[in-house]
Amino acid sequence: MLNADRTDPAVLRELIAAELIAARERTALLTGAVDDTELVAQHSPLMSPLVWDLAHIGNQEELWLLRNVGGRDPMHPEIDPLYDAFEHPRAERPRLPLLPPAEARAYAHEVRGRVLDLLAASPLEGAPLLDAGFAFGMIAQHEQQHDETMLATHQLRSGPAVLDAPPPPAATGGPLPAEVLVPAGPFTMGTDTEPWALDNERPAHRVELPAFRLDTTPVSNGAYLRFLADGGYDDPRWWTPAGWAHRMSAGLEAPLFWQRDGSQWLRRRFGHLEPVPEEEPVLHVSWYEADAYARWAGRRLPTEAEWEKAARHDPASGRSRRFPWGDAAPGPEHANLGQRHLRPAPVGAYPEGESPYGARQLIGDVWEWTSSDFTDYPGFTAWPYPEYSEVFFGPEYKVLRGGSFAVAPVACRGTFRNWDYPVRRQIFSGFRTARDAEPRTGAEG
Ligand SMILES: [Fe+2]
Repeated sequence: MLNADRTDPAVLRELIAAELIAARERTALLTGAVDDTELVAQHSPLMSPLVWDLAHIGNQEELWLLRNVGGRDPMHPEIDPLYDAFEHPRAERPRLPLLPPAEARAYAHEVRGRVLDLLAASPLEGAPLLDAGFAFGMIAQHEQQHDETMLATHQLRSGPAVLDAPPPPAATGGPLPAEVLVPAGPFTMGTDTEPWALDNERPAHRVELPAFRLDTTPVSNGAYLRFLADGGYDDPRWWTPAGWAHRMSAGLEAPLFWQRDGSQWLRRRFGHLEPVPEEEPVLHVSWYEADAYARWAGRRLPTEAEWEKAARHDPASGRSRRFPWGDAAPGPEHANLGQRHLRPAPVGAYPEGESPYGARQLIGDVWEWTSSDFTDYPGFTAWPYPEYSEVFFGPEYKVLRGGSFAVAPVACRGTFRNWDYPVRRQIFSGFRTARDAEPRTGAEG
């Protein structure tokens, strides 16, 4: 659907409706898999009760589409403050007088019905929020982003497994080179043309980079286990001062959800306890852990610009593409996205998703920490509101790129930027490493 002709309003309406429906089906799956007691419970102080996410999804849809686009009056103005993410931190949301599950569902359902009526009559042009269906696309992405957050809540909950999915595809094509070379030169970062790109992905701008080498795939659990076995968590040499202080105060000894069992490591994954699979990308690590691993390995995290050049720049044409494989919307052959699988694919999977430089799994599988702070691009304009990105710019947040198996295609593209605190690891986060390229010797591959 994302490859459809968006200039035809009828086609665009159909595409938007399909994205809204897909998001709601996923919300229904995630909120229907547990009983009402679990829906209102807080599974971690890091997360909202699932029932908050559910009504917040409906409330944001009402606010942006029915009120701002449609000019309608508020349906229940008294509940707006409860579902304003800036008014109440996650830890205090369980104590709010939230809508009970049945009412939260009914409210989100009522909003959606009215939105589909609005969509059917909308010209999808003539106002900045309407052009190319932007506000509708923003709301489909918003719901999918909360679905990702709700999936993280599922991972944090204790108790038996309630979600199921088939395994992702295996690695193919034999051993890959450990790293790829990205030669020096300029590339176009960010976008002016991606219709549903958010403000922080804009505008497109030229960035000049020296040559660098990037891991062909994300760092695997097997490689990460060698860091553990080598005493990586006990050696302050590998950690930044802030990272070491956090490692000590938080008692970090391994990725989140790992536990030692005699001589081996196990991990808990959506209610299943299983041996850590060595061939899978490491998951649930903080920026501090990723950064320490990279230093131990004699390498560093890539900058955000390096990540994007490796993912989007096509040296043959000189232009930046939407995705590593080209401009086509992500299919199941390209990347592990959309919660089709409940785990990352082994490193070396998805040969059809390879970038022109030969890097794999840049999109999907695990979010990849970069070394970069979350900042505005030159020429940035906050839109449609400063709380989307602008209030987060600064050195407290590190950028993650590429999306994870929990990210929907509608909320994933080569320009998409995620950000979080360097201590966070309940998110679906992994990483790959980089290094400066040596001067050319004539034997580069
Ligand atoms: Fe939200």
